[in-house]
Amino acid sequence: MQFTTLAVHGDEKTREHTGDVIPALHLATTYRQPRLGEFQEQVYTRGTNPTRLALEKRLALLEEARYAFVFSSGMAAISTAFHLFKKGDRILLNDNVYGGTFRYASKLFGNMGLFYDLVEDFNTLNFEGLPGDVRGIFLESPSNPLLRVTDIRRLAEKTHAANITLIVDNTFMSAYLQKPLSLGADMVVYSATKYYGGHSDVLAGALVLNDAEKAEQVKLLQNTLGNPLNPLDAYQLERSIKTLALRIDRQCANAAAVVDLLCAHPKVKKVFYPSIGKENRRIQESQSRGFGAVLSFVLQDQCDPARFIQGLSLFAFAVSLGSVESLVSHPASQTHASFSLELRKKAGIEEGLLRLSIGIEDVEDLLLDLEKALEAA
Ligand SMILES: Cc1ncc(COP(=O)(O)O)c(C=O)c1O
Repeated sequence: MQFTTLAVHGDEKTREHTGDVIPALHLATTYRQPRLGEFQEQVYTRGTNPTRLALEKRLALLEEARYAFVFSSGMAAISTAFHLFKKGDRILLNDNVYGGTFRYASKLFGNMGLFYDLVEDFNTLNFEGLPGDVRGIFLESPSNPLLRVTDIRRLAEKTHAANITLIVDNTFMSAYLQKPLSLGADMVVYSATKYYGGHSDVLAGALVLNDAEKAEQVKLLQNTLGNPLNPLDAYQLERSIKTLALRIDRQCANAAAVVDLLCAHPKVKKVFYPSIGKENRRIQESQSRGFGAVLSFVLQDQCDPARFIQGLSLFAFAVSLGSVESLVSHPASQTHASFSLELRKKAGIEEGLLRLSIGIEDVEDLLLDLEKALEAA
């Protein structure tokens, strides 16, 4: 079955005893145990919940994976993945990783006995020169906010040979555009708040993998750290996932038109998008179905980013991405404020960089709004 058919139908078996066309919403936090010493699947909702389970099965199907787990946020999924490492392990992160992930590494790894290094470009990483304690690589492709693309297939060959766990944050793509596990990654994490949710009303995360032993550990962590997604949000998310491909197709088409406008505009100095740059484009085309709907750009020196933002009326000035409505954000003061100025400079995150998340609005309206704001800048 193709992606959208799976997204709409999910695993029918989870509903066959009732005949429900949609998954039932189970709000009970606790379940009657038949008798002393006899246990059933549902005990307490932190450990298992039928609504959550149905969503996890649907996500695993979409990712062509064996296991999926959903969490109370993207950061809950990411921190659970970091809990799989052991004291003394070193994890490499791409240098323009989401600010919250960087904050986790820079503020909490020390307490956990973990180490990290930032890597500018995983495509050119020299594995022979790596310290012996490197046990994990965590990356976003395309990266946030500079949309740099890593050749996941090539990197996975090297990480497997070196016994390093490869984790991909696939938030910008979703399983519809890119399936890192099929490219060789060991684990995939998501801020499901973004494309999966798609309507700016659910905070959620997901972790997807194939390894049975690691899946057991993730299940234990989900129950023990107490960070699973609540049933109401699981229900909402499952509903949103049915339209994921439709939304993303439209968002990608809109984003391509916005990229064309910005690239040709005299007030724009630079545009960052996975289709820009020969190598970036080649790799993206080889491993994904599309370029996504997040892009960033820098205005010419004489222009004022604040005036540009104020000049927009359709685009809301807000963090986040992946929703039906278009947003504009300022990485240096918002999503990437946890990086020092020096680290931002090193990673190429300029103070004037602006990031757009393109929604499903009519593209003519989006282009008009941007032209008006560029005029004002
Ligand atoms: C790429 C990426 N990963 C992870 C996260 C964290 O997800 P959440 O906000 O759902 O905790 C974000 C949030 O913006 C993100 O952009």
